[in-house]
Amino acid sequence: MIYRKSAAEIGLMREGGKAVARILERMRDVVRPGVPTSEIEQEAEGMSRTLGIVPAFKGYMGYPSSICVSINDEVVHGIPSEKRLLKGGDIVGLDFGALYQGYYADAAITLPVGELEGEAEHLLKVTREALFKGIEAAVVDNRVGDISHAVQNHVESHGYSVVKTFVGHGIGRKLHEEPQVPNFGSPEWGARLKEGMTLAIEPMVNAGSDGIRVLDDGWTAVTMDGSLSAHFEHTVAVTANGPMILTDI
Ligand code: MF3
Ligand code: CO
Repeated sequence: MIYRKSAAEIGLMREGGKAVARILERMRDVVRPGVPTSEIEQEAEGMSRTLGIVPAFKGYMGYPSSICVSINDEVVHGIPSEKRLLKGGDIVGLDFGALYQGYYADAAITLPVGELEGEAEHLLKVTREALFKGIEAAVVDNRVGDISHAVQNHVESHGYSVVKTFVGHGIGRKLHEEPQVPNFGSPEWGARLKEGMTLAIEPMVNAGSDGIRVLDDGWTAVTMDGSLSAHFEHTVAVTANGPMILTDI
């Protein structure tokens, strides 16, 4: 069952989404060489209190932290730690969700730590572009598969691969609702998009092959081939006036 939201409900998700955006944007200043990833967690928790939102991930299926911090070959769901220090040239994926007045909002960005080398910068650019290609396809009367196809097409045309193991999702009163929003597939596939649907679109892109495995901590997903991986996500509402991004400032 896909729950469509009223303008008032979308308004609440927009409020929560703004807090998510502020927290992620703030991390541009926090993320620098030598910083332990636990500092990102502390900043996210402190800002959540100030902004009046509840971090959505802590305790979700037993996940131990408020923000997912995934470095280099880590795809998603990395766990912040005081033992893990960022270093120059790393890329760091930050994924944060908020619960505000009964509604969830969810977004992710991947940031450079200091100056990047090699293809890292390009991987970030292509992944972010793929997110926006997906968002552009989130229009009434398209299908979920139009989003999937737009993302996959952009990524693969640059020689990268989309992760298939994890997918985007509907979002609202629950963090994960129907429909699933894969980052691969055909425009013929999936539910037809209607006004009031709210979707978390979240391409995860590997510089190498698409395979992933989960580390012994039970959470951290890494690329099977050790290649870099990037992740960008927005929560988006399908409206009569086109896609509305709920997780920007
Ligand atoms: N943005 C991801 C998702 O919605 C991360 C949440 S998983 C968690 O699927 F377990 F860490 F909470
Ligand atoms: Co998500």
